[in-house]
Amino acid sequence: MPRPLPFTAHRLLAPMEGVTDPCFRDLVLARNAPEALGGAFTEFARVVQVALPRRSLREHLGARRFAQPVGLQLMGSDTELVAESARRAEEVGAPLVDLNFGCPAKGALRGCAGSSLLRDPSAVERLVRAAVGAVERVPVSAKIRAGYDDDSRLEELARAAENGGASLLTVHCRTKAELYCDEVDWTRLARAASAVSIPVCGNGGVRTHTDFERLRRETGCAYAMVGRAALGDPWIFSGARVTAADAARFLLDYAEVLRAEHVSARGAAGRVKQLLQHWTAGGLCDEDRASWLTESEPERLFARLGAVAGGTRDPVLNPAFEAELDTRPAPEPRSTLGARLVPVLDPPSPHGAPEARALGSTSPTSIAALAHFRRPNSEGSPADVRSSPDRP
Ligand SMILES: Cc1cc2nc3c(=O)[nH]c(=O)nc-3n(C[C@H](O)[C@H](O)[C@H](O)COP(=O)(O)O)c2cc1C
Repeated sequence: MPRPLPFTAHRLLAPMEGVTDPCFRDLVLARNAPEALGGAFTEFARVVQVALPRRSLREHLGARRFAQPVGLQLMGSDTELVAESARRAEEVGAPLVDLNFGCPAKGALRGCAGSSLLRDPSAVERLVRAAVGAVERVPVSAKIRAGYDDDSRLEELARAAENGGASLLTVHCRTKAELYCDEVDWTRLARAASAVSIPVCGNGGVRTHTDFERLRRETGCAYAMVGRAALGDPWIFSGARVTAADAARFLLDYAEVLRAEHVSARGAAGRVKQLLQHWTAGGLCDEDRASWLTESEPERLFARLGAVAGGTRDPVLNPAFEAELDTRPAPEPRSTLGARLVPVLDPPSPHGAPEARALGSTSPTSIAALAHFRRPNSEGSPADVRSSPDRP
């Protein structure tokens, strides 16, 4: 039986390796009310050789919780290791476990994980079933592409995920061969949605706020997920039209959070520039993107952003709560958590019963102040992420 999904709205932030770590993700979650942004995902956590240690899973989830759930994405091909990692993910507090069947990067393909599994629907089914069997309460979702070389096995893949027990299927409408091409074919999303009875989340080519609704309307998908356009406009979920000052403030806050995580100034500037490549919000760099991207001195880049931001403070629409760092020996059933933690909302969920989420301590904290985990791979890279074949 599919399990109720914890999302608070039908617009979701896609998992993006190298971007949707807690530093970026938390800023987006904080600036979007739960009825605008329904949930997010961690970057993929690669499962190779051993099940992922709980510490690493906690790092992926981050130290803070918001009203919206953050699904923990796993990528691997060994059923036992993926199952054990899923079990631990639930144990450390993941509200949903997502399995990656779309990553086209060479590393994933070499390890026969990610999109390479699209050539073998039975492997997709096996992995989903193993993860579903390993967790006790949380839903498991699968994120696929439309196919490997072509889309001829799309329905088969969708049904494999459903038969394995997935509660949600996310379909990135491009095939592995198409990588991140500009053209998208949403009829594939409609095909997937018709092939299964579990909810489907459509992904690929959402560029504007109105595209979310258009995608759902045209395809019958229950959810719509955005990737790169959210890097350029973190407010895409609500459609809020922010000022250049708000936009600059977001980027400065991002740099500040990264610096608090011990990323070098150059690394933080690189990560800011990675966003600037996609940036559309507030018209900040519509006229002179190149001059922002070629700003070679980090301090000059930050000063320039500071000059535009002035004294602005972005409204934090969605307060964060300290996550309980889970050192308990065994997970507690959800029903008992409710008494101890704070239910923040009771949203209408497109699928499954509305659910109050438990969020740990009640003290909201300032965005930049919290930096609990060091990330080993935290140097920024300004590389263009739009079409690299090494991207998931
Ligand atoms: C930089 C980058 C990193 C990504 N990392 C992941 C990942 O970790 N897991 C995953 O399932 N998809 C990943 N993707 C794919 C996105 O989740 C999404 O499916 C893809 O970008 C298509 O959506 P879009 O057209 O809205 O960008 C990544 C994409 C990009 C651009």
